[in-house]
Amino acid sequence: MKNKSDQIVIFDTTLRDGEQSPGASMTIEEKVQMAHQLKRLGVNVIEAGFPVISDGDFKAVSEIARQVKGPTICALARAVDNDIEAAAKALSEAENKRIHVFIATSDIHMEHKLKMTREQVVLRAVSAVKKARSYVTDVEFSAEDAARTDLDFLVHIIEAVVDAGATTVNIPDTVGYATPSEFGQLIKALKTRVRNIEQAVISVHCHNDLGLATANSLAAVANGARQVECTVNGIGERSGNCALEEIVMALKTRHDKFAIETDINTRELVNSSKMVEEVTGIHVQPNKAIVGRNSFAHEAGIHQHGVIANRATYEIMRAEDVGFESNEIVLGKHSGRHAIRLWLDKNKITLNEDEITELSNKVKALSDTQKQISDSDVFAILNQSQGDNVV
Ligand code: KIV
Ligand code: ZN
Repeated sequence: MKNKSDQIVIFDTTLRDGEQSPGASMTIEEKVQMAHQLKRLGVNVIEAGFPVISDGDFKAVSEIARQVKGPTICALARAVDNDIEAAAKALSEAENKRIHVFIATSDIHMEHKLKMTREQVVLRAVSAVKKARSYVTDVEFSAEDAARTDLDFLVHIIEAVVDAGATTVNIPDTVGYATPSEFGQLIKALKTRVRNIEQAVISVHCHNDLGLATANSLAAVANGARQVECTVNGIGERSGNCALEEIVMALKTRHDKFAIETDINTRELVNSSKMVEEVTGIHVQPNKAIVGRNSFAHEAGIHQHGVIANRATYEIMRAEDVGFESNEIVLGKHSGRHAIRLWLDKNKITLNEDEITELSNKVKALSDTQKQISDSDVFAILNQSQGDNVV
């Protein structure tokens, strides 16, 4: 992709962090199918897996590297030789390849998980980046739990890995702890304090434990991050990752504010979301931003009236632009005569004003007793009314 300052790299990790969601394991075939869809969607980097963790993941990364040309194919590795060797091998047939090495940098992780000192972590990170650079020119380094890492130490380790050859430095909010203003300030501080930061792309990887992953990613972009790591439908460890569809549509819809482009073909967002639902069995809730089935559906009469007159009254995006066929006017107890008229027009049925009132009242009465009104419910009411009139 072009490396312009007004362009961000969309790094999709549905097949790696997304697959780490409990219950989201995918077969090799499903991962390959999903990778082809991610290419259609226009993501710049596909993190295809973590080759050292299983034969299946190794094969999935190798197969994606062999079949999916265009996007950069990335493989994850801990900062240890064996992982990096497995990643390099799995990526061997990729057209564009990246090795992503990570090590934790927060005191709590270094002390309790790694049992390493700060100095040891820096040495390990530097040698891992150098090792990865001996295989590929595109190397990403992640400072796991960066959002809870001492800032001076974070600056120091980033300078060291960039000197060692890291081309992207990723700042994860691994446990979704940061708030948008804090996270934005962190990126700003890194941009000003890291001596060699201009030699690397700043990336962010936000988890959603407090429901702030997209907001934090946006704050990071506003402060200079130029890669966002995300997953389709926001799947991922615990409460998930920044949702790809949300960050992309936030940047597109609020272009006035961010002036940032992506290469995403937004009309493929719904297809991608549906494929993730199918292969993982994890369904998005109806009110999920962008891809939930209620995102462009209107039931309240006042909203329906507005949307029928001008969609922009209650829609900030077009349903078609994210891949739905259209928006939807739903009949229910909150809907009014405008919605009934629209339904009748769509079904080429003509009624007079009294009949429209009667039908509207009957739809409201029925919706007091059931959650949704389908077309066949309305036809049944109409048939019943016709029968009543005949009698
Ligand atoms: O959440 C995290 O810190 C990660 C890293 C491996 C990037 O997933
Ligand atoms: Zn993560």
